Amino acid sequence: MNTVFDLQSLRWAIAEWKHQGVSIAFVPTMGNLHAGHLSLLKEAKRLADRTVVSIFVNPIQFGKGEDYEGYPSTLEADSRKLQAGGLDLLFAPDLKQLYPAGMDVDTRVTVPQLSNILCGKFRPEHFTGVATVVCKLLINVQPDIALFGEKDYQQLLVIKKMTMDLCMPIEIIGLPIHREADGLAMSSRNGYLNRQERVIAPFIYQALQQAAERLQQNPADIAKIEAQGMQALEAKGFRPEYFSVRRTEDLAEPGPDDTQLSILAAAWLGSARLIDNIQVNVSR
Ligand code: PAF
Repeated sequence: MNTVFDLQSLRWAIAEWKHQGVSIAFVPTMGNLHAGHLSLLKEAKRLADRTVVSIFVNPIQFGKGEDYEGYPSTLEADSRKLQAGGLDLLFAPDLKQLYPAGMDVDTRVTVPQLSNILCGKFRPEHFTGVATVVCKLLINVQPDIALFGEKDYQQLLVIKKMTMDLCMPIEIIGLPIHREADGLAMSSRNGYLNRQERVIAPFIYQALQQAAERLQQNPADIAKIEAQGMQALEAKGFRPEYFSVRRTEDLAEPGPDDTQLSILAAAWLGSARLIDNIQVNVSR
């Protein structure tokens, strides 16, 4: 595994591969890697000749008072995991590489409508921060495909739309959520949970499963199902932000004929903000 820390070295490595005509798969991350990230790498290896992972904690996707400062930095452990997973190239830039003119640069990449709903309502600058940094990374890595986990389903759609609208010749692939044995979606932020909270945390997935069953039985009952979801989370000690039934395709509010639906939830438990989602196909 080759590790590079600056854009110039990344570009040289990529140019060499482009010259050889090999295909490239890319997995962008913020580090603190878990089995979910490693499953993205495994799939990346299956789909392309060469693999690139980036580790960069992107300040502009964190809001004021969020966990940017305390976000775990575990580069050595991450490197070992990636090496063991058979990665070809790790890109681990510092702030200066990706924000040479500082963080207050004018140029941002925004995917307006998708970014303002659900998580975007509670984290107003978040998806612009994500789209901007992923755009910078894609321009430099020049992958044929890039892989993202479906836990951050809204993020996946924002990135798909960005690459489509900007005519980027890159296929964006979403992979199913990786879960702990008790159902909790794997996330770097699960480490913020104390022991008691960790026991409660999988309930968010149970609440989604219960809601999915209700939705299949009564697809017209969306408002009630959403309210029950919020109440169920509150009753367990979560501070839910939303519990929402949406169209899987574009996260719009479902119309009476839509059959491919997703239920998405975001809730605080102690100092951890957890998100999760489940897809439901209903018959009308
Ligand atoms: O999902 C993440 O880890 C981040 O949002 C990403 C895509 C690496 C952009 O910083």
